[in-house]
Amino acid sequence: MKILAIETSCDETAIALVEAKGGVNPSTGSGPKFKILENLVASQIKIHRPFGGVVPNLAKREHLKNLPILFKKLVASGYTLNPDIVAVTVGPGLEPALWTGINFAKEIYKEIKKLGNKEIKLIGISHLEGHLYSFLLEQKRVNFQFSIFNFQNLFPAVALIISGGHTILIKMDSLVKYKKIGETRDDAVGEAFDKVARLLNLPYPGGPEIEKLAKKGNSSAINFPRPMLNQKNYDFSFSGLKTSILYYLRDNKNVKIEDVAASFQSAAFEVLIKKTLRAANEFKAKSIFISGGVAANKTLKKEFILKIENLKLKIDFLVPPKNLCADNAAMIAVAGYINHLRKKKRRLTANGNLNI
Ligand code: KG4
Ligand code: ZN
Repeated sequence: MKILAIETSCDETAIALVEAKGGVNPSTGSGPKFKILENLVASQIKIHRPFGGVVPNLAKREHLKNLPILFKKLVASGYTLNPDIVAVTVGPGLEPALWTGINFAKEIYKEIKKLGNKEIKLIGISHLEGHLYSFLLEQKRVNFQFSIFNFQNLFPAVALIISGGHTILIKMDSLVKYKKIGETRDDAVGEAFDKVARLLNLPYPGGPEIEKLAKKGNSSAINFPRPMLNQKNYDFSFSGLKTSILYYLRDNKNVKIEDVAASFQSAAFEVLIKKTLRAANEFKAKSIFISGGVAANKTLKKEFILKIENLKLKIDFLVPPKNLCADNAAMIAVAGYINHLRKKKRRLTANGNLNI
């Protein structure tokens, strides 16, 4: 089965063509398998950078411009464009941006249907489900206990979605049965990276800039707070951490910004890792999946792995490749396939606050 997917929820215009096979039944089979045929992304970072963040109307304008360009590229790549499913992100995200993708998907769906493919389906997807399922696109798996990747041995699992808009912890009993167990009460962790970067006069998006700077700093130089670390719930909070950095910079003019970056990163990651491992322990998880833009951070991955190894936990740790941590349409195709199999439907209407 082929899935054509479109993603325009924020500042990346993305179109992907993905081949999928296999099922989602937890007790049988080896799980779904995916092959990315094309994964095209047009980033708008340079356009939004002077504003220090994403400007919704500029994002919409760029999506309108980029969608036909990416689609032409896809057609030119030589694949017969005869998908079984057109999957499009309907939320959460910026509604004007989401609408550009939904309308484009509707047009393509109609055109392909006109050409004779009467069975084609158009389905709306939650961007968060895209991130959640993106571990299925991982080829190189970090296995501690299992030399051969075994689909049935993955669950129960704990999934951590960490992006610019969300910080969510999810307990997964299977690919199709899952429940949110915690989330941020204020800023998302990626948002905190972006805001702290601004305090340090670094460009948007802040995550990669802070990661680079932190490599040259001492992560235990400053003891920033670890918000909600010891609370017996799976929620997070990052706005107080950002504020404490604001005050620290105000009161310590000669501080090395490398140390601030490294100490901030270390505080944020300690909370993410400890709470995720606590959930994994409580729910007897056999694996941990992390996804979203912040999961691209190498230090975070290293620290997660180190902690799992030091504690001798029998837990698989799965992270998508860097380009699939950030927003892309291949993950929307994966969610499209799974939702198609489980017959889950969403309205083809932009919903900025759509939940997972
Ligand atoms: O998943 P994503 O591309 O878009 C959203 O759905 O929000 O995530 C973007 C976020 C931004 O806040 C960005 O600063 C952060 O991910 N990010 C990182 C890194 N790369 C991107 N944060 C920490 N370290 C990174 N290397
Ligand atoms: Zn995202």
